[in-house]
Amino acid sequence: MVSTHPAGVQDAGTQYLPQRRNTNTNISPNQELLPLTAKANSQGNLEIGGCDVTTLVEQFGSPLYILDEETLRTACQQYRDGFQKYYPGESQVLYASKAWNCLAVCAIAGSEGLGIDVVSGGELYTALAAGVSPAKIYLHGNNKSREELILAIESGVTIVADNWYELRTLASLTHTDQPVRIMLRLTPGIECHTHEYIRTGHLDSKFGFDPNDLAEVFEFVSQQPNLNCVGLHAHIGSQIFERQPHRDLAAVMVQWLRDANKYGLNVTELNVGGGLGIKYVESDDPPSIDEWVKAICEVVQSACAAENLPLPKLLSEPGRSLIATSCVTAYTVGSSKTIPEIRTYVSIDGGMSDNPRPITYQSVYRAVIANKLSVSHTETVTIAGKHCESGDILIKNAQLPKTEPGDILVVMATGAYNYSMASNYNRLPRPAAVVVANGEANLILQRETYQDLIRQDCLPERLK
Ligand code: LLP
Repeated sequence: MVSTHPAGVQDAGTQYLPQRRNTNTNISPNQELLPLTAKANSQGNLEIGGCDVTTLVEQFGSPLYILDEETLRTACQQYRDGFQKYYPGESQVLYASKAWNCLAVCAIAGSEGLGIDVVSGGELYTALAAGVSPAKIYLHGNNKSREELILAIESGVTIVADNWYELRTLASLTHTDQPVRIMLRLTPGIECHTHEYIRTGHLDSKFGFDPNDLAEVFEFVSQQPNLNCVGLHAHIGSQIFERQPHRDLAAVMVQWLRDANKYGLNVTELNVGGGLGIKYVESDDPPSIDEWVKAICEVVQSACAAENLPLPKLLSEPGRSLIATSCVTAYTVGSSKTIPEIRTYVSIDGGMSDNPRPITYQSVYRAVIANKLSVSHTETVTIAGKHCESGDILIKNAQLPKTEPGDILVVMATGAYNYSMASNYNRLPRPAAVVVANGEANLILQRETYQDLIRQDCLPERLK
């Protein structure tokens, strides 16, 4: 099935995170891209979670990921409350932790009642260590190892089976006296107009079963007493601004549910995946969390009514829209280079190793100077990272006040797929991260040290 909405055509959207505080600030037009608690303080500096960003950098070093707890909790609550408001059946929101998997983030999401979607043994281990109940953890992945499957089975989490190889491995690893809870991932073939690399719902995808093989899969699973197939899953892509693809998805999933029941399977859970986009730049216009949730709940209810099916437990697994806007990355400005009539490069002390999204997906970000909020934006400069790679550019043509070495550049909406995709390229230690709330800042990820960088290195005796 292909969504009929052409690229760029969006429903008239409202603003992302509509419950924004009416803070007194002069940081517009960037206010919407910043965490909810962001404001200009009495010194004219950027403050987040009651903490002056320039002071945070003095205290914790640079670059620094700064996570605003209130923004993250608000997004969790908007998802959770949205399903409670629009869906009369049971629901469960899972945080797609690939967006940012670490103990503190899993713990915050868990404390808001969310479950966690994990995609590897490492993410699973972290979610469990954060105290999330295994009953609320779902393991994804197109090539889970035997060890990962065993860890998942022993921990009692739900496994989202992706392919035949995995189904057969699972059948061989489990026993009838303790059946493993599984869901089946299907690839609905719904096209969504997002970056090519992050489409996962079309048929040419490495993920999930082909819906044309559904009968065979249901038949197989129904004959495996050690596989307790509780539900169906699909995910169609990321950073999606249209609502129609998810409406189409919800409708088609209810039909799969009807078909599963014909095979005597007691399939009672539907997971519609994640994918809601966020605002990275002023012109981005995604639907609000509330609108996205409402659209899905309405379709599932009407499709179930049409098929005369009881309402399934409805799961979703947003990542980006839960966490991206709650975090900023603070960098320190260093050198600059002006090439007359071409451009000025302003370099900062991080780059593609802490935010690989611009070089990977040509993603666009906006920035402010934390210590110059009230200075007018008179310059157009290119923000360059410090890596030995010409493509290490974080922002092309950033509109900023005149910058000087020592200024604190704050890149907005870096909560999703930044730390989680960070690397040690050029042997840069990964930055620290702090969570801020009510004027308090707590370390959630320590800055890596040079010792950390060589911790896993081995120097064989004969090379010394
Ligand atoms: N569920 C599944 C099965 C997924 O594969 C993903 C994302 C999600 C949920 C969460 O999607 P979200 O709500 O975050 O859109 N690294 C890319 C994004 C890759 C998304 C991968 N899957 C980026 O930086 O844009």
